[in-house]
Amino acid sequence: MIRFSSQASFKHPAALVLVTAEQAGTKKFKSPSAEVSAAVTRVLVQERFEGGKGEMFPVSVNDCLVVLLGLGKEKELTLASLRVLVRRALLSAYFKKIADIELIPHHDSAGVVEALIDAKVIGTYAWKKYITRKKEDKTVEKKTVHIIAALNAGYAAAVTVNEAVNFSRDLINENADVTTAEFLETTARSLIRGKTGITIEVLDRKKLQQKKFGLLLAVNKGSVNEPRVVVVSYNGGKKDDPYIAFVGKGLTFDSGGLNLKPSGSMETMRSDMSGAAAVLGALKAVIALKLRKNVIFAFGAVENAIDANSYKPGDVFVGYAGKSVEIGNTDAEGRLVLADVISYVIDVYKPSRLIDLATLTGACVVGLGHDYAGLMSNNEDLAARVTASAEATDDRAWRLPIYPELKDMIKSKIADIRNISNQKGSAGAMTAAEFLHSFVGKTPWAHLDIAGPSFVDGDSRMYYGHGATGYGVRLCVDLIKKG
Ligand code: BES
Ligand code: MN
Ligand code: ZN
Repeated sequence: MIRFSSQASFKHPAALVLVTAEQAGTKKFKSPSAEVSAAVTRVLVQERFEGGKGEMFPVSVNDCLVVLLGLGKEKELTLASLRVLVRRALLSAYFKKIADIELIPHHDSAGVVEALIDAKVIGTYAWKKYITRKKEDKTVEKKTVHIIAALNAGYAAAVTVNEAVNFSRDLINENADVTTAEFLETTARSLIRGKTGITIEVLDRKKLQQKKFGLLLAVNKGSVNEPRVVVVSYNGGKKDDPYIAFVGKGLTFDSGGLNLKPSGSMETMRSDMSGAAAVLGALKAVIALKLRKNVIFAFGAVENAIDANSYKPGDVFVGYAGKSVEIGNTDAEGRLVLADVISYVIDVYKPSRLIDLATLTGACVVGLGHDYAGLMSNNEDLAARVTASAEATDDRAWRLPIYPELKDMIKSKIADIRNISNQKGSAGAMTAAEFLHSFVGKTPWAHLDIAGPSFVDGDSRMYYGHGATGYGVRLCVDLIKKG
């Protein structure tokens, strides 16, 4: 939990005090508690703590454990590294078994306070549902952090959005056999239950067959689970305001299909529905914030399983758009699912802009790593807006080109188009995007390949712990807010 207070009290069991090198250099510390001021000032005068980046020093004053956290030089400090430092401090052994911490920033500008909110809500999240060991510390996320800052209406919204990020992470981290397509449908329904101005369309197998979602259904052929396409219309804006659409890839598990993934590549593939989870997280936040905008939230949820019924490499399928696709590789399944959902959403809902989020290619992870999503677009204005929201929210994205010659790389001799490139091993993220592009038509469209940033092994991505990051929720909400 996060609370805000205008003044530090040092009456909680612990306090984390952020100190820049410059502040430490003054060798003076002022706080509302004379005892704390004297104790910390003494430490500074004795030069036992200099405010270096990541330096920590504990001072016990009465019943309060005051931990100084060095931020280094103010002008070298970025919000990104502030999040990392504060996250690490909040997780440190100093605060073990302490349920209440005052967090006293070096100054209370909105950017700094929001970074502290990120460090607490996103940074201390951990997926521990299946850990039964008694000594595992499950209290970390339950700690209350009292941020000492003048209240700003934006802070409650930041907490709300970050909670939606964690909601998205739970969906991704949960077992693939739990978060099935039907489970994701139920999740969408429960988010909108009792809310006015929101409608939902769910396509089950029968409707998908009727509407000829031949590509999406091909991918699900080997699965015992039912497929679903879910489209939520959030009608918070004026009747005539245009709709912005978000479409998520919802592969509840990607085994690769008959082009089976090798060991080492399959273990995290329950996260292949991270695009759908981002869309659901954004929906949750938009509802909680009551944004007065018109938005479509959609996803296609299927499983790429291996079975006697699995779709086969070399076969040709026709999708909603009526275009035939040669299956060069059953592991290039996400683009098939998205092709059907994107063409359906454009055809039926006619959004003015469409953004898809998909864990689409390993190539994008090779190229951009885990800190950046790949951004590809047919529209300069939309690409600029997505880039601006990516920067504002720290859901980072980097533009990759799409250009006419890519079309030649996905030509087929036996169908209208092929689902993999003819030039094996090159431009994988861009040819995947070009495949989607061919189903988009003239609608301004941006594609976020989130294969890298959506899920990380270990503590490798900035202020996130192991597993799902909830990438995309903050970016989408910011984009919606800014219209
Ligand atoms: N879901 C994967 C992409 C992926 C890879 C996501 C690593 C997260 C981490 C996607 O369906 C896939 O398998 N793509 C193939 C495409 C190839 C067969 C053209 C890939 O990237 O290897
Ligand atoms: Mn795949
Ligand atoms: Zn996939």
